[in-house]
Amino acid sequence: SADPMIAPSILASDFARLADELHAIAGADWVHVDVMDAHFVPNLTLGLPVVEALLKVTDIPMDCHLMIDDPDRWAIDYAEAGAYNVTVHAEAAGDPVKLAANLRAAGAKAGLSIKPGTPLEPWTEVLKHYDTLLVMSVEPGFGGQSFMPEVLDKVRAARRLVDTGHLKLLVEIDGGINTDTIELAAQAGVDCFVAGSAIYSADEPAKAIEALRDQASR
Ligand code: DX5
Ligand code: ZN
Repeated sequence: SADPMIAPSILASDFARLADELHAIAGADWVHVDVMDAHFVPNLTLGLPVVEALLKVTDIPMDCHLMIDDPDRWAIDYAEAGAYNVTVHAEAAGDPVKLAANLRAAGAKAGLSIKPGTPLEPWTEVLKHYDTLLVMSVEPGFGGQSFMPEVLDKVRAARRLVDTGHLKLLVEIDGGINTDTIELAAQAGVDCFVAGSAIYSADEPAKAIEALRDQASR
């Protein structure tokens, strides 16, 4: 299979030094930006103005993970700003098929995320319209939580749907990924690994990225 992709989450970085923190993750495939609205999840992070500012100081493709209510209204702005992949939550989207079409028309990849308790099967038809499936391996809202291995059944099911040609998706995982957990996730069929604390708590984030990639390739 293809080289594992690593997407550092800047949620674990120093928000007072965001440009430097982007420069510290050389070798990242994507940079993962967690947008939280204090409604869909009980935490508030950053929004469009900060994303627009960050897009100006990095060439790393940006992966915007929108943990917000009413993504039908707000997600398009992130695509138009130049985000590479814009992920919305299945639990929050009103018309996810139309939303995916709008994101693609604005030039972005369309991502759909499911929380740990959300089953995959009801979303398989909708996922035909998406480029990315983001499987949450913690309850969304905070970094630094423990990986939930039970979500790997959904990863395996998604991998099968992709490998049998029923879906054409990149399978992404988010939450609790570190050098201990990444191997399990890789074996289950993940293509792209989000990691926040495992990368930004390291002395050298760029080396932590390579360590994760090596571990996922084993
Ligand atoms: C949690 C966010 C994650 C978070 C992951 O709601 O979606 O992207 O930053 O952080 P770690 O890797 O520390 O679990
Ligand atoms: Zn995230």
